[in-house]
Amino acid sequence: YPPHLVRNFSIIAHVDHGKSTLADRLLELTGTIRKGLGQPQFLDKLQVERERGITVKAQTATMFYNYGSGGIGSSPGRFLLNLIDTPGHVDFSYEVSRSLAACQGVLLLVDAAQGVQAQTVANFFLAFEADLAIIPVINKIDQLNADPEGVKTQLKTMFDIDPQKVLLTSAKTGQGLEHVLPAVIERIPHPKGVVNAPLRMLLLDSYYDEYKGVICHVAIVDGVLKRGEKIESAVTRQRYDVMDIGILYPELTPTGILLTGQVGYVVSGMRSTHEARIGDTLYQASMVVEPLPGFKPAKHMVFAGVYPADGSDYDALCHAIERLTCNDASVSVTKESSGALGIGFRCGFLGLLHMDVFHQRLEQEHGAQVITTTPTVPYIFEYADGSKLNVQNPAALTSNSGKRILTCWEPTVMATIITPSEYVGSLMTLCSERRGQQIEYSFVDGQRAMLKYRLPLCEVVIDFYNELKSITSGYASFDYEEAEYQSSDLVKLDVLLNGQAVDALATIVHRSKAHRIGRELCDKLKNVLDRQMFEVAIQAAIGSKVVARETIPAMRKNVLAKCYGGDVSRKRKLLEKQKEGKKRMKRVGSVDIPQEAFHSLLKTS
Ligand code: GTP
Repeated sequence: YPPHLVRNFSIIAHVDHGKSTLADRLLELTGTIRKGLGQPQFLDKLQVERERGITVKAQTATMFYNYGSGGIGSSPGRFLLNLIDTPGHVDFSYEVSRSLAACQGVLLLVDAAQGVQAQTVANFFLAFEADLAIIPVINKIDQLNADPEGVKTQLKTMFDIDPQKVLLTSAKTGQGLEHVLPAVIERIPHPKGVVNAPLRMLLLDSYYDEYKGVICHVAIVDGVLKRGEKIESAVTRQRYDVMDIGILYPELTPTGILLTGQVGYVVSGMRSTHEARIGDTLYQASMVVEPLPGFKPAKHMVFAGVYPADGSDYDALCHAIERLTCNDASVSVTKESSGALGIGFRCGFLGLLHMDVFHQRLEQEHGAQVITTTPTVPYIFEYADGSKLNVQNPAALTSNSGKRILTCWEPTVMATIITPSEYVGSLMTLCSERRGQQIEYSFVDGQRAMLKYRLPLCEVVIDFYNELKSITSGYASFDYEEAEYQSSDLVKLDVLLNGQAVDALATIVHRSKAHRIGRELCDKLKNVLDRQMFEVAIQAAIGSKVVARETIPAMRKNVLAKCYGGDVSRKRKLLEKQKEGKKRMKRVGSVDIPQEAFHSLLKTS
């Protein structure tokens, strides 16, 4: 395929605006998949994705399309179109930019009733900054409350998009779909690689297949790659033999060769997806080439401990995590142990949804029962002696290290919120409670406003999204991108049971919130802990300063129950004995916390 007959494009959209449905329709239209056969939404593959209706892992497909009868500026012929799918959630914006690096253009899809939403804005700017051709598509025009004209105005106001250029479609009824692929061919430039130059190939994605091993999705930027050739990674310098190569049509279809500008797959004997660094440049072994500009590596924004729900299940969990990370190299895993929960792992995720999805897949696909600790963000503590500590687990921060803390740094994000105007006041309150700083306040149209806030990531991680949705009855949308670290007055909040710190419950919080969070934690703990034979003091403390306290009274076993009548001295003796016993237990001071209690405690916090 000569490059001028190739088009590489993505569909970008806010969640639920119909990206996967449109992708399926395009695959049907070109005969790549048969209508009504197989899974609905071919491109969404994971079980969790289907359940939640979200796309987690990008999938890619090639289609062929005959076009050219009178096309403006394009040569007639059979075109090879590569649709590079992008995940649809804020956590995965790095995957979006990765996919966009292999495209020359995008379909910017907007729901005709919902209009421009937070991710529409974020995705538009990703594409705009990457200098891609943008084809605006207003989808779901079959809906009763569709307002395509209103949405056109929004697109004009916000992105300066010419209303004449906007396509109107319904991926459901098929209306307007016939204009989509011609627009792709006419408005998106063909890939600009050099056919005769040495091979340069971009690694887009990878996954593990039980039979074939690691399968890499790649885009050939320059040159040509054939089966049997030797390739080398610019990052790891490892060499591989190309054992199988082909296109995704939409299943793996061997072609033996991939040409300049094409997107496809390569199987090369990599043993684990960890060898397949996303954004890596691959080239002919022993050739000297300039690597392509790499992407930002996956940044772990949220960390949590993952422990077997039943201590003995450690091996099963270990195995499950290994299998899962084989396919999702964006999760980082290190071993960790906790006094309260035993041996487990500290995992780093791209965001909260990523964490949820991982947790769910562990349980669903690998049958592992796990307890996940309260998520935390990566803090940096800077000491007076100049040393720095990266804190991914609050329990690791000891107050008695003898070193004076100079500055605490926390990660922040730039959040975009789009909301009906009537909720602006309540959302501003929410953001300022969350220590946000307003950056922008503007209007999308007469009814809707856009707010931009810089917010500490830890304030977004815990329940921000749910609160935003409940304040606005689900009408506001939200997206964020990472911003720089800011210095902040942070403290470690310990939870103590009868004076002993429970490591799994330690958190890092802003000093101004320590009292409130401490009280809430103590209260919750009181409700989930069983009464013991002795009194239990639940305390929240910053260093040695207690900021909140609850007490669970002892269960008073009625030792006199069996003592009918009897003389007073015997009663007293029994009561004395009971007191002794309690004292002893208190001295031992170990409170049994049932695993179940942890589960409910960590789930709700
Ligand atoms: P993510 O994968 O999370 O990004 O979502 P998505 O953008 O891929 O949305 P998806 O294709 O899953 O569609 C979301 C919902 O909208 C589904 O219930 C679709 O059936 C529905 N839908 C998609 N296109 C249309 C359309 O043109 N008209 C109507 N009425 N509904 C549509």
